[in-house]
Amino acid sequence: MISQQLNDRITRIGPGTPAGAVLRRYWQPAALADEVETGLPLPVNLMGERLALVRADDGALRLVTRQSGPGEPPAHFPETVAIDADGPTYPATLCAGVVFAYMGPGDPPDFPSFDCFRAPDSHVFAFKGLWECNWLQALEIGIDPAHASFLHRFLEDEDPEAGYGRQFRDKAAQTNMPMTQVLREYPRPEIRVDETDFGLKITALRHMEGALTHVRVTNQIFPEAICIPMSREMTITQWHVPIDDETCYWYTIFTSFDRPVDKALMRDQRLKEHRLPDYAPLKNRANDYHYNPDEQATLTYTGMGLDINVHDQWAVEGMGRIQDRTQEHLGRSDVAIIRFRRMLRRAITALEEGDEATLPMLGGAEVGRMVGPLSNDAIADSDNWQDASWQADMARRAACPWDASV
Ligand SMILES: [Fe+2]
Repeated sequence: MISQQLNDRITRIGPGTPAGAVLRRYWQPAALADEVETGLPLPVNLMGERLALVRADDGALRLVTRQSGPGEPPAHFPETVAIDADGPTYPATLCAGVVFAYMGPGDPPDFPSFDCFRAPDSHVFAFKGLWECNWLQALEIGIDPAHASFLHRFLEDEDPEAGYGRQFRDKAAQTNMPMTQVLREYPRPEIRVDETDFGLKITALRHMEGALTHVRVTNQIFPEAICIPMSREMTITQWHVPIDDETCYWYTIFTSFDRPVDKALMRDQRLKEHRLPDYAPLKNRANDYHYNPDEQATLTYTGMGLDINVHDQWAVEGMGRIQDRTQEHLGRSDVAIIRFRRMLRRAITALEEGDEATLPMLGGAEVGRMVGPLSNDAIADSDNWQDASWQADMARRAACPWDASV
């Protein structure tokens, strides 16, 4: 439970806000490469600013300030984009299917050499989706390892071979147990959180029968991304990017350590669930997320279908546009959320005191040498889980067709 004043301080991101100043020190996903292909200029609403993505005379991508007519409907992009020549402009660059923009002072930081940025184009696929809530609650669900056992509970297990391109449908490594069964039968993980040079490493241990432990390693990448396993083949690196204080986009880069990504299939799966041009989900608050009580009785915990993005969307939008944290009660399973808020508050204070060198991931050349992060599911003997988790990641990296060495 925190004060309203503190909740405002860590959630609001417009120009001149303390948390907005922190986020502006980092590259922010601003558009998909798919959107650039539909033509520029492209209207972009980002961090409470109304912008447009353009190609400058030198060929480089830039975000420029967009003039806004008072009669323009906010939810619909105008056919033509009027540029404000006097407004600020920001550098932008295309990487792994996503246009990243830097909206802070001075030179942008280096990109880390994380897997999603190292993998060749054939092995990454990017997509995004609109959530009608503040970015922080969207991020916080991603660093809560317990929620998957409830929110994403499937009452039956489907054939994992049919799960390509979807999360939690694979078999857990070293066993034939589907991930859905692991999550369902062991719902209360022991959670360990370690601070790293990029953010947090979150280890969820599900102690199973027969002296076995399921180990799931996920990561918080400061300030607003996560890196988590999707299947044995792929990881998900996902940013929760503020459009304004009350809406955000998730941007995900799917990275394959094995076969090239079937981009056409993955795009199709997701386009069926979203409306263009704003990537708004077709299941949403206005239609009760297609909630079906019969399905809830027999198939899923939420009764909202098999797409886990919809479950997360319902959970975070259901908290209200900006979660009222003066009323929350954090428990032991919220340890990563508590640690993340501490890091964010520390970064806000450091920036206010002019001590930006202490912020994570802004350390110049050494940021460019950051690799990983390790992110996987493994089942191991309970007395050897640490080593087994490491070995599982190393084996995947050793067999990877591109250089994923760490
Ligand atoms: Fe989730």
